[in-house]
Amino acid sequence: MTPQIMINILDKKFVPLISREVIENRIAAIASEIEKDYQNRCPLFIVVLNGAFLFASELVKRIPLSCEITFIKLASYNKTQSTGSVREIIGLNDDIAGRDIIIIEDIVDTGLTMAQLLSQINDLEPASVAIASLLHKPDALQTEVDIRYTGFNIENKFVVGYGLDYDGIGRNLDAIYVLA
Ligand code: XMP
Ligand code: MG
Repeated sequence: MTPQIMINILDKKFVPLISREVIENRIAAIASEIEKDYQNRCPLFIVVLNGAFLFASELVKRIPLSCEITFIKLASYNKTQSTGSVREIIGLNDDIAGRDIIIIEDIVDTGLTMAQLLSQINDLEPASVAIASLLHKPDALQTEVDIRYTGFNIENKFVVGYGLDYDGIGRNLDAIYVLA
């Protein structure tokens, strides 16, 4: 049995789940799919910060298409309304009407964040919207989300690395680690 390298982040221990090599090979495959699907179009990638920064940089540099790349953040705040917590999009200054949008996200967990983001993006009348998510936890899903490009389906356990953090730490790890 190969020894597992355990790492400590703050008060928690994590073990390797997906290596850098496996991640990068999978991202290269997704890049080829996107290149094929968007021939003769000029997609606008919307990168959801902070978590998707490494996935996005690894992905877009492998897609030799004419494209635009923009970055958003989702602010959490509570609004007293039936839908509960609404996450406002910060930084979307582009006119996305009529554009082919590809949202780049780190992980779709319950899917609630993505469902809300999608409905706000769709209100701006893009020509099309596709989602590329590095990770997906199918067992955690609470609402249907159509992910066009998925890196890896993973178990319903907390993960860090490759952009994802535990309390701000771990984003710079070049592999994905799961809570031990
Ligand atoms: P939902 O549940 O709305 O979650 O799909 C989406 C956002 O929650 C964060 N998230 C995680 N972050 N490890 C992380 O570091 C995880 O296992 C994890 N699960 C969810 C993430 O920001 C995602 O965009
Ligand atoms: Mg995120």
